Amino acid sequence: MRDVIPQDEFKQRRQQLLQLLPERSMALVAAHSEVTRSNDTEYPFRQNSDFFYLTGFNEPDAVLLLINDNKPRSVLFCQDKDPKHEVWHGLRLGYENAVETLAVDSAEDLETLPERLPELLQGIESAFYPMGENSVLAELVGDARDELSVKARRSGKLGPQSLSDLRPQLDSLRLIKSANEIAVMKEAARISTQAFRRIMCFVEAGKQEYQVAAELHHEFAMNGALQPAYGIICGGGANACVLHYTDNRDPLQNGDLLLVDAGAEYQGYAADITRTFPVNGQFSEPQAILYNLVLKAQQAAFAEVKPGSNLVQASEAAARVISDGLTELGILSGDADENFKEQRWKTYFIHGLGHWLGLDVHDVGRYRNSDGEPIAFKPGMVLTVEPGVYIPESADVDSKWRGIGIRIEDDVVVTADGFDNMTADAPKTIEEIETWMKSQ
Ligand code: GLY
Ligand code: MN
Ligand code: MN
Repeated sequence: MRDVIPQDEFKQRRQQLLQLLPERSMALVAAHSEVTRSNDTEYPFRQNSDFFYLTGFNEPDAVLLLINDNKPRSVLFCQDKDPKHEVWHGLRLGYENAVETLAVDSAEDLETLPERLPELLQGIESAFYPMGENSVLAELVGDARDELSVKARRSGKLGPQSLSDLRPQLDSLRLIKSANEIAVMKEAARISTQAFRRIMCFVEAGKQEYQVAAELHHEFAMNGALQPAYGIICGGGANACVLHYTDNRDPLQNGDLLLVDAGAEYQGYAADITRTFPVNGQFSEPQAILYNLVLKAQQAAFAEVKPGSNLVQASEAAARVISDGLTELGILSGDADENFKEQRWKTYFIHGLGHWLGLDVHDVGRYRNSDGEPIAFKPGMVLTVEPGVYIPESADVDSKWRGIGIRIEDDVVVTADGFDNMTADAPKTIEEIETWMKSQ
């Protein structure tokens, strides 16, 4: 699949953001810098998601300015071309090519930004940037404002009187995915589901958790997803009860379940799937009972994924199923209604039901508004639905349940009348999993 987000769409996003800003304001969004690992080597570079969202530009060290004065415009400050550097590290776009390649209105050398910023901020009343994320950018804006204040006595020209967080405006745009974004996310989901089909045929007792992770990396990369969207989790047996287990160094054991939580990053966008399946291809009875409970909870949550409903309602639907099921199995003692009301199920369903998904695996966007009301689902929102039950070895329950951790996670896009499950092709029911594992 070629790049499917055209330059026009990035331009349109910048225009939409400009329209959300007040008059005489400026928004600033910075690219990430490279991070040194040790002498002369860096960690793999991954662009800042906000910056990528607004530019599609994947180089480090750049700042985008959106200026909303009488002539709304975008100005990119990026690195100059440098033949010496390029011999070692590859070509840079260079600011002289940025206007044509990225369709920004103008572009300048990043090195000049500290001296240019005070000029550009003259007459600007408010400056917006994503707060709490980039101290270099915050310092740059603060310094420019201070410089203007000092000079204002003589020049009469004030700089911005308010510095504000850009997150609310930016997040509201990123929360609703465009048709092109959904197409890219479907491709990330397709590659990821294919990788899950692969590992279900790879696992057997004696293989290592990290070897399962290696199979996923292989399948992702062979399909153009050069890195996963987050650290892959492969937890055999009780390791599945550690929510963000990424050590992945234990051997797989006959009779255990394996919980795998992994997703490809494709053209910047994440997939995030979890499947839990038996190392030997066959669920034991206690494993199957708990598995079907989690599956039933996911189905109850799915019924609440539609416009007008919200994540809180979907979470409650899943929690009710899990609470009632655990009570019926004797894992929770006492009365079902009380167990639900007192949230005793939280001992075993220890995380939220899901999260927004997009350029970031835990994507931006609030779950409640300022009044504390849940944000209503709208077409184009993408989220995960991932109930789980985790019974650690130390739990005070019948020994047959101990050491079982199960999560089932799919990625769904809200549509006009419900949702579309983008990861449905990863085998999920017990029958689908056992049949698929046997078939290979
Ligand atoms: N992979 C982390 C999560 O599912 O939220
Ligand atoms: Mn996950
Ligand atoms: Mn998730």
